Amino acid sequence: MTTMESLIGLVNRIQQACTKLGDYGGSDSNTFSSLWEALPSVAVVGGQSSGKSSVLESIVGRDFLPRGSGIVTRRPLVLQLHKTEDGANEYAEFLHRPGRKITDFAVVRQEIQDETDRITGKTKQISPIPIHLSIYSPDVVNLTLIDLPGLTKVAIDGQSESIVQDIENMVRSYVEKPNCIILAISPANQDIATSDAIKLSREVDPSGERTFGVLTKLDLMDKGTNALDVLEGRSYRLQHPWVGIVNRSQADINKNVDMIVARRKELEYFETSPDYGHLASKMGSVYLAKLLSQHLESVIRARIPSITSLINKSIDELESEMDHLGRPIAVDAGAQLYTILELCRKFERVFKEHLDGGRAGGDR
Ligand code: GDP
Ligand code: NA
Ligand code: MG
Repeated sequence: MTTMESLIGLVNRIQQACTKLGDYGGSDSNTFSSLWEALPSVAVVGGQSSGKSSVLESIVGRDFLPRGSGIVTRRPLVLQLHKTEDGANEYAEFLHRPGRKITDFAVVRQEIQDETDRITGKTKQISPIPIHLSIYSPDVVNLTLIDLPGLTKVAIDGQSESIVQDIENMVRSYVEKPNCIILAISPANQDIATSDAIKLSREVDPSGERTFGVLTKLDLMDKGTNALDVLEGRSYRLQHPWVGIVNRSQADINKNVDMIVARRKELEYFETSPDYGHLASKMGSVYLAKLLSQHLESVIRARIPSITSLINKSIDELESEMDHLGRPIAVDAGAQLYTILELCRKFERVFKEHLDGGRAGGDR
């Protein structure tokens, strides 16, 4: 692992420990929420069934999210990816089921559905209470991804009248944070001028510096039309290039077409397309994942100094908190505080080595 990967991985684990601590209703220190917000996360925004969950799955490269027509994603899913050492076994763990290591990703999907229903019932209602899931794997980048319910225009049967506004408020609460990178998902078979994703992302990120425009369902456009005006930035200009995507169709999902096959088909689609052939190397979910991780790395690199000072401050606060709280603190919360402290110290150590190494290298 590179030093950068180790540092990002440590912040990732600190964030996770902060989440666990929050769960005990323990400390309300600002430092913890600042630490949580120190690293960028990536959230999807878009209309219902625009392909948000499908795009996130492709980025992770695993099948594990509930997808389908209608309102499927009904609670926010905060997904932390943790890169582990090469050769390590891959597994998933839910915050609400600590210690249960799940290796079958079909079980992960079922648990997301069950845990959604646990709060909302088997309804079309939504809940702002997030589900926290961690995936540990040698094949992921350290990253937090957030899947969100889709924006809608009208309440349907079984939903309260306020649902349209409730969903928008929920989505906005994630994407308005300056550290949130927005994947604005619009389906190519609808006019971009009516895109909910663009409407909301423009509102919270007017300069477009943290918005990535993603155009899904290119395969579903009317014959004789294409999306070149959007993909080449003429319809709606963003600072980052637009990326076109072909996810699995509902028929593919029903037939259990797997991720590898889907990615190959997507690549083929672009390479053989008379319209998009010239853009093929900058299209598709693999390219989107690469683009995102490059962007994240540059954002994090720029933020390392402020994260470092935040961590120094946290170490001081944590040490005094541990001193003072002593007895009354719950065993679990105490253990979490200790974990955070240890991780912060390790971050400091790795960062210092990184600086020393950098200096030594610079002298040559
Ligand atoms: P979400 O509601 O925005 O999370 O969308 P989902 O990822 O659940 O997808 C909604 C439906 O659209 C599913 O049936 C997907 O199979 C289908 N879908 C998503 N993206 C594409 C695409 O690029 N092409 C095709 N043909 N279908 C897609
Ligand atoms: Na859907
Ligand atoms: Mg979804």
